[in-house]
Amino acid sequence: MAEQTFCIDFGSGFTKVGLRRHPTATTVLVNDHGIDTTDFCYHSVVVIDRSGPKPVVEYGKKAAGRAPANGIEIHANWKQWLFLTPSGDEPGANSVEAFLRTDELAKLAARHGVTATQIGHLRQLVSSARELLAGAGVQPVTRDAQRQQFAASLAVYYFTWLRQEVLKECERLPHAGVKYADIPTRVSVPAFAHGSNVTTHPGCKFLTTALVKAGWSLHPENPVVSEPVANTVGVLTNGLNATKKNKVDLGSMFNKGPVITVGANAKYYAPYRAIVVDVGGYTTDFAVLTLRQDGLLDADPERAFDAQQHSVPLGVSDLDKRVLSVLPPEKAAWLSKRSADELDGFRVTLYTEGKPVRSGVIGTVGAPGTEGDAVRDQLSQFAAAVGAEVRQFLTAIGTGGTNELVLTGGGVSIPAVRDAILTAAAADGREFVKIHGPDIQKKHTGKPVHKLDSRIARGGGAIGGSSLFFEPALA
Ligand SMILES: Nc1ncnc2c1ncn2[C@@H]1O[C@H](COP(=O)(O)OP(=O)(O)OP(=O)(O)O)[C@@H](O)[C@H]1O
Ligand SMILES: [Mg+2]
Repeated sequence: MAEQTFCIDFGSGFTKVGLRRHPTATTVLVNDHGIDTTDFCYHSVVVIDRSGPKPVVEYGKKAAGRAPANGIEIHANWKQWLFLTPSGDEPGANSVEAFLRTDELAKLAARHGVTATQIGHLRQLVSSARELLAGAGVQPVTRDAQRQQFAASLAVYYFTWLRQEVLKECERLPHAGVKYADIPTRVSVPAFAHGSNVTTHPGCKFLTTALVKAGWSLHPENPVVSEPVANTVGVLTNGLNATKKNKVDLGSMFNKGPVITVGANAKYYAPYRAIVVDVGGYTTDFAVLTLRQDGLLDADPERAFDAQQHSVPLGVSDLDKRVLSVLPPEKAAWLSKRSADELDGFRVTLYTEGKPVRSGVIGTVGAPGTEGDAVRDQLSQFAAAVGAEVRQFLTAIGTGGTNELVLTGGGVSIPAVRDAILTAAAADGREFVKIHGPDIQKKHTGKPVHKLDSRIARGGGAIGGSSLFFEPALA
């Protein structure tokens, strides 16, 4: 087992890093200054400034403040590229072939007197070349594969920078007996079905390879954990780690809330389930941890709970795309030239507060009337899509027992999304004894609520991922 561990919750918008400094220390978030800010959310944006004689790469806050311009490349939301599953023989996916099929090329050709027949011949030539290469065992590089390779190299730069930042921050923490640079790390990943285990998805290999190249040493037993499961553990333990006679003491770690009541009286209340819905930038992640009979007395966490998990590529960045598609083109173009920081602020204004964004340049975005209605309409369609996923996931686990519902991720702060999740969760006769979430009140749910602060609501995955829960050797 690792006595100490980092957990990197690499988010498509924000990366959070958890740290357990010794086996039973409470997990903390790195760069958490103890006041009500979200400094522990490191922007996952990378900017390549090619405007000077040499390219300059920028990260974090600095990168998030940059707007795209000539020679300034902004790379946001690139996590999803690591999890692409490119297929080499799909003609549409080959970038040259795809280009030869575009309307833009057809228009350009017409303007310059190149006939459709000539373009047709060119297409044939490229297809034949691809088939010839495939016959010789050479797979042409598809656009998806190119993106994936690019993201894999971006990841090395990003995690190198992140390591510098994290180690710099650790300087502020107590040093007795701790060499921060030697602490191994694990990384949390979306729970995409792949093989027998979420950690076998090819995207995980890209991530772990990039981490090692960036100087991180991987956790010896469990380098990759599922985002939703780590998140559930973080929320339910609040970062607490405990041992009894050198074994992990789950009873003390999960010492708050219904889980402990059910754990002690399984006959009356079982099964106990904690259900997490995490609406992130790229994915919505689900997990259900079901406590096994006498599970909390079991020293092996893997045997204490049954975990079911699921991730769907549906997140706040999809909502952004939807909204851009219904705005007048000049406003959409203006928005797509904003910095990551500005966009973050706009999301809160447009989606959470339901107010228009004033630009001073192209007027108001989402002003009351047709435009505001169109934005609201997209918001409710997105919320409905999230709700449908929630309902589908919960249907699979059935009703009954004692259930707690936990809402996390930046997306659940959006009232329309939160309401759609709560409605879907309560459908089909399901009941929850307690609901956890940020900005949530009893009037939203009619049930006891636990208002999560931003550390748990956004950082729960990193906190849970550094938990003793994932130290099998301690069991
Ligand atoms: N109050 C809010 N209102 C609207 N949007 C918000 C709010 N708080 C955060 N967001 C947005 O929610 C999104 C998700 O944030 P979060 O930190 O959960 O994502 P992530 O972990 O980076 O994504 P993923 O886990 O999918 O890779 C971000 O795009 C962020 O801008
Ligand atoms: Mg996340």
